[in-house]
Parts: sequence; structure tokens; C-alpha cells
Amino acid sequence: MTIIIGRREAGTQSAGVVEGYPATAQRWPSRLQRRPLTASELSGPQAVLKRLPPVRGDLAGYGAKRALGQLMHLQVRIVDEDGAPVPGAVVEIWHCNAAGKYIHANDTHDAPADPNFYGAARVVTDADGTILLRSIKPAAYPVPDSGHWWRPPHVHLSVWGRVWLSRLVTQMFFPGEPLNESDRILQAVPDAEARARSIARLRPPAQGPEDALVFEHEIVVRGRSVSPAMP
Ligand SMILES: [Fe+2]
Repeated sequence: MTIIIGRREAGTQSAGVVEGYPATAQRWPSRLQRRPLTASELSGPQAVLKRLPPVRGDLAGYGAKRALGQLMHLQVRIVDEDGAPVPGAVVEIWHCNAAGKYIHANDTHDAPADPNFYGAARVVTDADGTILLRSIKPAAYPVPDSGHWWRPPHVHLSVWGRVWLSRLVTQMFFPGEPLNESDRILQAVPDAEARARSIARLRPPAQGPEDALVFEHEIVVRGRSVSPAMP
């Protein structure tokens, strides 16, 4: 299979086929070609939000009770290569519950679902390029088709820009997780600084009625410090 792509920063991006993770061989093309994007691709549908309306940014409180697990507040800032905020970006977020179970028909992990956990949200960055989420910290889970290895706790994020082709799909990891060091998705990124940029920062806990962990994260959508793409 051949795929045509734009500019790719090799050091910050996954090596492609990840050893010990057979499914990646089907996700990755055997040959890459580079070409510039055309004007029509860059001036495509503008009103992304009309097609993808926002969904509440609260994954922990969808039912009558809140989801099981460690409550967390997640603050994600979307910036460009100069650190300038990207307002109006559509950010989709999904992660598993506190037992390591996704709300998805393909998740065969023998772990309990949580009726109060929704598992996904779609929100829009504010003028400061920031989104705020209330959720529970996801658990680690075993990778079903790869022998005995576990994914560390992580959050999947998809960032849409102002046109359809302007999209980055990545993952956010949590600091201090031992499984980060053996995760074949995170470790497939050659550049250590790029891996470090994929790990959120723990901030002081939330004050007030909710005693929640607070994590801050930054996603760089382009340039030399672009966040690693991780499907
Ligand atoms: Fe995942």
C-alpha cells in the first residue's frame, strides 16, 4: 500500500510498525510519498462545528451518579509551532473507564462497564486555545492481540483545525506511570523530548466541593515540536 502525506517530522513521530504489536503492520503503509497539500484541500469545509456539534465535556457525570474511579480535571491547551493558542479547534476525547474498559463493541477486555461513564466528548477550544474536561482517570488495559503487554493509562485526542485535512490524532499519558516505559506506542516515538511532551503535568488538586486530581497538557499541532501522532 502507498500513501501520500505532507511533511513529517521523523524524530517526533512513531516508527510505524511497532515490534510486538502486530496490528500496527496493517495500520502503516509499506511506502511513503511526500507531496504538498493542494489549495482545495486547505480551503475545504470551514464550518466543522456545523457537522460535528459539541458534546458535553463531562465524562464523569453522565448518569445519576458520577463514574467510578479517581476524579480528575483535565486542561488541554492547543498551540501552534510558536506556542500561540489555537482557538476554535474541535477536540474529540475518548478513554477507557477506571477498570480499563472502553464503550465500544470491539473492546473484548473482560472488565466491567460503568453505566455512569460515557467515555467520549467533543469540545471547542476557547480564545486561549484551551479545553476543560471533568472525567475519571482511566486504567491500564491489556492489548488483546499482542501477547502480554499492557497499555498505560492514556487519553486519546483528535484535534480538528479549520479544514478537514487539518487534523492531529494523538494520545496523552500520565506522569509517573511505570507502564509508560514499556508502552510500545509511546516508545515507538524515537525522540525523548517528543515522548516527554506526550505526558501531562500534575498540578495541585482542585479546591472546592470536588477533590479532583488536576492535569495540564499541551498539544502542538505543527512544526518541529509537533505532538506525536498516535492513532
Ligand atoms: Fe486506548
